[in-house]
Amino acid sequence: MKQDMIVILDLGSTENTTIARQIRDLGVYSEIHPHDITPKELNELQNVKGIILNGGENRVVDGAPVDVDPALYECGYPMLAVSHPTAKCEKILEALPDLAALKEFVFADCKAQANWNMKNFIADQVERIREQVGEKKVLLALSGGVDSSVVAAMLIKAIGQQLVCVHVNHGLMRKDESESVVQVFKNQLHANLIYVDAVERFLGKLEGVADPEQKRKIIGGEFIRVFEEEARKLEGIDFLGQGTIYPDIIESGTKTAKMVKSHHNVGGLPSDLKFELVEPLKQLFKDEVRACGIELGLPESMVYRQPFPGPGLGVRCLGAITRERLEAVRESDAILREEFEKAGLNKKVWQYFTVVPDFKSVGVKNNARSFDYMVIIRAINTIDAMSATIETIDWNVLQKITDRILAEVEHVNRVCYDMSPKPPATIEFE
Ligand code: XMP
Repeated sequence: MKQDMIVILDLGSTENTTIARQIRDLGVYSEIHPHDITPKELNELQNVKGIILNGGENRVVDGAPVDVDPALYECGYPMLAVSHPTAKCEKILEALPDLAALKEFVFADCKAQANWNMKNFIADQVERIREQVGEKKVLLALSGGVDSSVVAAMLIKAIGQQLVCVHVNHGLMRKDESESVVQVFKNQLHANLIYVDAVERFLGKLEGVADPEQKRKIIGGEFIRVFEEEARKLEGIDFLGQGTIYPDIIESGTKTAKMVKSHHNVGGLPSDLKFELVEPLKQLFKDEVRACGIELGLPESMVYRQPFPGPGLGVRCLGAITRERLEAVRESDAILREEFEKAGLNKKVWQYFTVVPDFKSVGVKNNARSFDYMVIIRAINTIDAMSATIETIDWNVLQKITDRILAEVEHVNRVCYDMSPKPPATIEFE
């Protein structure tokens, strides 16, 4: 273990992550653990320099206040308690420590070194992965999204050819996306990558299905089936790599925090496929995952890509998907992204994409009547995707994108800009 660590024990505070982030900002690694961690588990964490007992509004579970195992007080670590009236340590604060108090605890009391950086984090994780996996094999569903890409790069560094990546092209990827997964992981990083062309299979299943929820279910369900089929063809796989990151864990609820939504990455695999999970990013926040990806040598375009929904372009080709309209979404999205990059908007706007509805409107082309589809442009800013505002885009940029879409994308005769914030709209259309 290359870096010192401060452990935060979650006694029902909603501010665990705030403190963890502040400590990491001081250059010291910090992890959050449940309040009922045992002394043995605590001692197994390496390089622990101190403990913060962080109490708060969710301290009472099922009518009884939660508390730590009293034996923890005997483990010999410096301790700081926040809003935790029954704590038995010397330092007890009524409210969250300010920066000065936090610095004093971390550096003066715990004598922690400010040695938290991505190089050390990666070195630690590589060591842990090798210890966990040994000579065995790990399977990973590699979508090309930020989290799965960074996990793949980390696992390649740790165990090389013992990692088997499966990339399923469901036909709903953005332009050149599957190709770039192959290019980066197979050609550059020499990963053991199985590329599954499942385009026809997915589009076949989706044929004629217009209901948004039904479409999502088909895409999600089919994905699991394809992945499962690939897993069954392989032998001697004991582990499943997952791009779980810290916010996924928070949103799934902890012992003292309520669940926001169930966390699933490759959830739903049949129970006879028993894998132990390898989740090397599960303590990282999104910006740290990106920094980790850059440190591991992934291209910026992969690490800083905007969020993209699991069901892909399937939820942007509205109603029953047709190949014609799917191509129109894909091509217009590529033009939008290219022009946003040229205008420097890719770094400024949180998410931007195009949508093609399933109705036509009348237009004129070559002096004759046309009856074709429209492309809707959407560009939003948000902090947490729970609410969103629309981005004000320079008229000239919009004009250029519109001209290009109308000239280059087949079956389109109209371009609109979506002005709706969330709420009442959602970010995606389906
Ligand atoms: P909505 O449309 O709910 O989207 O306002 C909020 C954010 O979540 C993304 N999104 C998804 N991401 N799987 C994902 O991984 C999905 O099924 C999914 N649906 C929406 C959406 O792009 C936006 O960033």
